[in-house]
Amino acid sequence: MLVSAKEMLTKAKAGHYAVGQFNINNLEWTKSILQTAQELESPVILGVSEGAGKYMCGYKTIVGMVKGMMEELNITVPVALHLDHGSFEGAKACINAGFSSIMFDGSSLPIDENVQKTTELVNACNILGLSLEAEVGSIGGEEDGVIGAGECADPDECKKVADLGVTMLAAGIGNIHGKYPENWAGLSFETLDAIQAKTGDMPLVLHGGTGIPADMIKKAISLGVAKINVNTECQLAFQEATRKYIEEGKDLQGKGFDPRKLLAPGAEAIKATVKEKMELFGSVGKAFN
Ligand code: 13P
Repeated sequence: MLVSAKEMLTKAKAGHYAVGQFNINNLEWTKSILQTAQELESPVILGVSEGAGKYMCGYKTIVGMVKGMMEELNITVPVALHLDHGSFEGAKACINAGFSSIMFDGSSLPIDENVQKTTELVNACNILGLSLEAEVGSIGGEEDGVIGAGECADPDECKKVADLGVTMLAAGIGNIHGKYPENWAGLSFETLDAIQAKTGDMPLVLHGGTGIPADMIKKAISLGVAKINVNTECQLAFQEATRKYIEEGKDLQGKGFDPRKLLAPGAEAIKATVKEKMELFGSVGKAFN
């Protein structure tokens, strides 16, 4: 059964660890992430961007795939199926399709419009028992067509949006989607500290989890981050393993062209990446307590 992310994130914030959101792209991705979460007894959030939603034939297909897979693979850890950087229309579509968690990214809108649209979705999600993520400030770089300037969030605006009753809050603190550039200034812990001081128990979300050094991740968790999003790192792991398989000519040997063989090293690489992140975030063994 899919669950709202509320309980897992409340526990994570109180227990000083973070739950990973891993974005999915297809069946192999989803299976690798779910199996790793189950093996490590970790709660997990499956992220779906609007672009990945289209690629996977729409939100209803995704809900059917994830629910079916959880049943057939006996996945019993808490799993939230979450829209990542949703538009207002996308949020409504995912609510209707049966997602258990929604992100409405109104960060590019004037703050009053962000507040008004987020409020409408808070009401809808509350009625249905879904969790809702809002965003203030912006995440630099590009996430599947969503482009952000990367400005740090204003702590007062964060409080304004947190007070609307959202479940979790994504705030720009110098984080960037995709690979970090050589000259990256690092996370602004000053901003994060000020946001936590204003928003109290609110679980904070760190986007752009790919490539953030372990010490920065740990410090962010100590300052109230309870959800960390990872996408590009699984893509790079999959690409590297698949490239190696083909460069070694394994697709040309015997039945190495069989898609179940061809995609296996990539799927294993995703598992290893997810495991490493869950260990770093501290969510291992937290599924049932
Ligand atoms: P990365 O692709 O940088 O890991 O970011 C993922 C993310 O923040 C999804 O919203």
